[in-house]
Amino acid sequence: MPGFAKLAEDIAREAGDMLLARRPTMSGAVETKSSPTDVVTILDKASEQLIRERILAARPDDTILGEEEGEARGESDVRWVVDPIDGTVNFLYGLPDWAVSIAVEVNGEVVAGAVNLPARGELFCAARGEGAWLGGERLRCNTGVPLERALVATGFGYGADRRAVQGQVVAQVLPRVRDIRRGGSCAIDLCSVAAGRVDAYYERGVNRWDYAAAGLIATEAGARLGGLRGRPANTDLTLCAAAGLFEELHDLLVPLDPERDV
Ligand code: IPD
Ligand code: CA
Ligand code: CA
Repeated sequence: MPGFAKLAEDIAREAGDMLLARRPTMSGAVETKSSPTDVVTILDKASEQLIRERILAARPDDTILGEEEGEARGESDVRWVVDPIDGTVNFLYGLPDWAVSIAVEVNGEVVAGAVNLPARGELFCAARGEGAWLGGERLRCNTGVPLERALVATGFGYGADRRAVQGQVVAQVLPRVRDIRRGGSCAIDLCSVAAGRVDAYYERGVNRWDYAAAGLIATEAGARLGGLRGRPANTDLTLCAAAGLFEELHDLLVPLDPERDV
């Protein structure tokens, strides 16, 4: 795996710089007569395009899965998993918590990941077995935090039915924990677990491009990442926290049936 983390980092940095320079402003949108939403759609695609070009220039035989364009298959056993902007709504509103997320899998296992937060000047990265890092600082997640003192990040999907259920579930979680955070980016939520900025994270409906890179960053920082009932992290439910809290939150969630949509 040598070189994968560095390449993911370099590409995430370049895409982040491009997005930072071109991010929409409400006044700019008025001048160009386009809506900020259009600008974001264009930049989402431009970011993924740039990332794909850079990956293929360095690794022409690899597979790339990106949120915007789907999967382009290559011949090697390496797959890159890309979210060109995670936290699109924050990006649209000029809030700083959005990220470029790039993961590298070998035979289906994530071996490297980079999550770049350009508006915060932070770049999280990890390589399997080599730790998780924020700049020169090695990351360790919080440990020994009981459920009732846990700061728990979560998120909500875009569909109304799913959100209604997510609202019911979070209403049952809120009285049992220190507090809830809804930051607006799954990748950043997982990096926040890694950095001890929150204690735990769970969400229904996130995709591999949301959690692949940051999931490795969290596990390399000592956290557990998984789904319900022993499954690996998946779209039905992704849960992350240090051992102990992971199980407590898991056992609180299971009877609430958080994987349903109605
Ligand atoms: C979304 C963010 C958000 C999460 C949603 C995701 P996007 O990704 O990660 O925090 O709650 O489930 O879809 O649309 O900003 O790439
Ligand atoms: Ca996303
Ligand atoms: Ca996205």
